[in-house]
Amino acid sequence: MEGVVDLHMRALLTRLGGLDGCVTEFVRVSNRQVLPAHTFRKHCPELENNSLTASGIPIKLQLLGGCPQTLADNARKAAELGAIAIDLNFGCPTKTVNNSNGGACLLQYPEQIYTIVDAVRSNVPLSIPVSAKIRLGFNDRSLFMENAQAVAAAGAFELTVHARSKADGYKPPAYWEYIGKIREALEIPVIANGEIWSPQDWQRCVEQTGCDDYMLGRGILARPDLALAIKAAAEHRDYVPMSWAQVSSLIWDYYMITKPLYPKKFLGNRVKQWLAYLRLNYPQAERLFDEIKKEKDATVFEQALLRQASEECET
Ligand SMILES: Cc1cc2nc3c(=O)[nH]c(=O)nc-3n(C[C@H](O)[C@H](O)[C@H](O)COP(=O)(O)O)c2cc1C
Repeated sequence: MEGVVDLHMRALLTRLGGLDGCVTEFVRVSNRQVLPAHTFRKHCPELENNSLTASGIPIKLQLLGGCPQTLADNARKAAELGAIAIDLNFGCPTKTVNNSNGGACLLQYPEQIYTIVDAVRSNVPLSIPVSAKIRLGFNDRSLFMENAQAVAAAGAFELTVHARSKADGYKPPAYWEYIGKIREALEIPVIANGEIWSPQDWQRCVEQTGCDDYMLGRGILARPDLALAIKAAAEHRDYVPMSWAQVSSLIWDYYMITKPLYPKKFLGNRVKQWLAYLRLNYPQAERLFDEIKKEKDATVFEQALLRQASEECET
């Protein structure tokens, strides 16, 4: 997730367990340019670790753009640099992305989706799987099947479907029933995505899609052990949810890792951004967020984080 799930968040979440794979933030390609190696390494430092997170979970490198040849050239370069899987983003709704002719706007043109996936597939070694991520459409959901079929016909290894059109934005509900139809029609694996915030949501998504695999977005930021909880539910095991004390220790780790990476004026911004998700599940995150949201003094900021963690341990 662009601007949110960086190297450090990927490392943190994958080390908790329950995740089988992850995807980089999108790498934007435009202007017929092959990006320099450092751009790929910046988005995917895991390239230096055989495209595995620190805990050994494989990562797909995601590209976003609209020009088939440019995407193909960049995909080949990513593979040369060590990418073990390439994912193509046809879901991003933001304006700047759509003005550069990439992301969800391409869903208006299934033939263009086919041409892009085909070009990328033909230009990277067969040992490197090429996958795609789509929404259900752009202005409406009418082309959902055409787009899914275009991805499969062009030789993609698997397809992730975010069960909303661009016009649906991020508003609930997610239209999982469309994913069920796509799964029935396609011979490649289909990964269901959208609005999975709890094991109960996942269970309902299973019932409506019948998929074997699921992608978690905002849900795992709001509840870091969501994948573990879902796996336990899938295996009919009891599960004790992660406590706030455990979560606050993760927040502290994330703060310490990200602190040196940003100028002082952005103190704790990454942590604040994460708290905005965590507070959906943990009232303590809301309190902590209120306490530190305007704090610019590192010592006071850190004391608040530590106090929150220790108060929890005592209760
Ligand atoms: C801030 C933000 C950034 C995102 N960045 C990406 C991205 O870089 N690549 C991508 O495929 N999807 C991206 N997404 C979409 C999510 O991966 C996911 O498809 C969407 O949020 C729906 O799933 P959810 O309801 O589980 O969050 C992003 C979503 C958000 C909210």
